[in-house]
Amino acid sequence: MSFPIAPAFSALRLARLRDVPRIATVATAGFYYSPVFPWESRFHRDFPTDTFQSYEKMFADTIISPDYATLVVEDSYDPAEAEKTEATIKPDEKISAPKLQKPETVLLDKSPFHADMLDEKCDAAEEKYFEGHQLVDMVVVHPAYWRRGHGTSLVKWGKALADVDRVNQGVIAADMGEKLYTSLGYGKLDDVRAVSEDGPPPHEVQVGVLRYSGPWSARAEL
Ligand SMILES: CC(C)(COP(=O)(O)OP(=O)(O)OC[C@H]1O[C@@H](n2cnc3c(N)ncnc32)[C@H](O)[C@@H]1OP(=O)(O)O)[C@@H](O)C(=O)NCCC(=O)NCCS
Repeated sequence: MSFPIAPAFSALRLARLRDVPRIATVATAGFYYSPVFPWESRFHRDFPTDTFQSYEKMFADTIISPDYATLVVEDSYDPAEAEKTEATIKPDEKISAPKLQKPETVLLDKSPFHADMLDEKCDAAEEKYFEGHQLVDMVVVHPAYWRRGHGTSLVKWGKALADVDRVNQGVIAADMGEKLYTSLGYGKLDDVRAVSEDGPPPHEVQVGVLRYSGPWSARAEL
């Protein structure tokens, strides 16, 4: 039996479990600037380690899972990188090897109410628009390394994978992510909005629902 080849990795490579602490640092530093972060990680300042650990768990799960391909791109290390994000970061060197949390671990940086509200709406949008699609999720670059083309190479690899597999690809993205995806040929289908007056601001968050249909598809937007 033969399988379609994977797209060329070029500067990218598959993530390994030992990358998890570094990925969690990058995710904390970068996702801090997504509007979803202040919506759900409301207590990040008080519990920065919990933010870090939740990304550790999320990415360790995807690396282990046969359902995902998790890719990383490396750049030369900027020793002043921690000053280039407003997120609260634990220095990399103090973080030990990933300790996979037990499922019942409660992380205190998030508001479960706000996180669940947005998750439910995003799940409904995925069900409505993304049946049979590949999904792209959690593309993030540390702010110290923004605008060097790293986000573009990660997303282009995902598009190439959709073309190899001849399937549509869906992504839910906000703000900067939406700009990146639309510039690479993803079409906007809808917006998902969550609103609540409870607690301190933000009282709403909006993310876009986007789809890439490759040139092979009758619905191709390219
Ligand atoms: C979106 C993101 C992944 C782009 O990474 P990147 O390595 O800077 O991407 P590139 O260098 O390939 O730039 C691609 C586009 O990203 C957007 N972008 C990157 N940095 C940006 C910034 N500081 N402000 C606004 N847009 C920005 C721009 O549209 C840029 O295109 P342009 O330079 O032609 O204007 C990165 O900004 C990030 O991690 N943001 C926070 C997390 C997030 O929102 N992720 C997407 C969620 S799905």
